[in-house]
Amino acid sequence: DVPRALRGHVLQFNASPFCEDPTSAITDWQDGLIVIQDGLIHAVGQADDLMGTLPEGTIIEDHSGKLILPGFIDCHAHYPQSEVIASYGTQLIEWLNTYTFPAEAKFRDKAYAQAAANVYLAESFRNGITSASVYCTVHPESAEALFEAASTFSMRMIAGKVLMDRNAPDNLRDTAQSGYDDSKRLIEAWHGKGRNLYCITPRFAPTSTPQQLEAAGALWKEHPGTLVQTHTSENLKEIEWVKTLYPDHTDYVGVYEHFGLLGKGSILGHAIHLSDRERAVISESGTGVAHCPTSNTFIGSGLFDVKEAHYGAHPFRVGLATDVGGGSSFSMLSTMRTAYEIAQLRGYSLHPAQAYYLSTVGSAKALYLEDRIGNLMPGMEADITVIDMHSTELIRHRMSYADTLTEALFTQMILGDDRAIAATYVNGKKVYEKPS
Ligand code: GUN
Ligand code: FE
Repeated sequence: DVPRALRGHVLQFNASPFCEDPTSAITDWQDGLIVIQDGLIHAVGQADDLMGTLPEGTIIEDHSGKLILPGFIDCHAHYPQSEVIASYGTQLIEWLNTYTFPAEAKFRDKAYAQAAANVYLAESFRNGITSASVYCTVHPESAEALFEAASTFSMRMIAGKVLMDRNAPDNLRDTAQSGYDDSKRLIEAWHGKGRNLYCITPRFAPTSTPQQLEAAGALWKEHPGTLVQTHTSENLKEIEWVKTLYPDHTDYVGVYEHFGLLGKGSILGHAIHLSDRERAVISESGTGVAHCPTSNTFIGSGLFDVKEAHYGAHPFRVGLATDVGGGSSFSMLSTMRTAYEIAQLRGYSLHPAQAYYLSTVGSAKALYLEDRIGNLMPGMEADITVIDMHSTELIRHRMSYADTLTEALFTQMILGDDRAIAATYVNGKKVYEKPS
């Protein structure tokens, strides 16, 4: 590959901003440079210092005046649900039955899945999302279609076929055995192929029999390095339902604990309504949590406690996620805005440094990929998002009164959306550029 360098206002996280002085966690170079070689970040720093060191033939892409950030990582999304975004009038269980299951049934058709995978990736790149942990449908073809599409961009895709052997329509159920076999085949075909990683994906406890959760736990143990994703404690009726389906277990998180589905590389979606015991288990096992703010509000599930997750007695790893299509936006900036608003409703003002961290390093940490993605450090993979800080009239107006970087970042996450994304780079290559 021809070496490449991006010039602009470069931001890097040097520590966690969940501390006394969140802004101190950011290092930035107003006239910065990122040098990229073979899909990896080779150097980051002041443009003047690095210009003389560039390998011969380096192509410099000029983003002066724009922010250069680590690519956003969406640590929980459903690619087959792009078509049910904005479905009116239901909460979780009814929402699944009315809108989501009928949409997912269409993914039995590989061509349909391929078209949807392309829409999903294009929309993610248009919003600066460079990596994601994605639920497919029960059909193995749906996972193949997504991995194939992601591979054409060498994107770090984390995904898996959904496991679901009860409480779903006939055409959307597998069995404990067929779900295990299909997932195993997909792991052998896709896990570690290019930048793809397989994520074992039991949808949630209500749609799996104990036999299926047991098979999922066994599969994970047999394939170290794969990940696990599922939903937990999103909605109060869902929690009551789990009590009736799994009466012998202490609590919802305890079900996953029992079947060996918690630990490093396991990501629980939502985790809104947790008991102290559940927080302790998540914390001690190193399990990650995907905070899905626009889904919390859109399907009316509740308000995730981001302060407790970081400062409580049992802190755990938290990433930010769109939860498309229970979530109502592909924009990670809009997702950060809703995270801020939810925190506000719980009496905590999420700092902009914390919001940007959650959508980059935080998501990487929840997935245990923080050594490879989520930050702009030498040796890390070159997934990068460029932000135009003057993308609308109102933002331009507001920015003329912004004196600090923190204020500029906050303005973008409150007022910005897909229009603020100037360019997106995956594996060192431009996969999106805003039309001028
Ligand atoms: N719980 C089980 N399945 C789903 C889903 O598809 N979306 C959301 N938001 N919650 C779920
Ligand atoms: Fe979800």
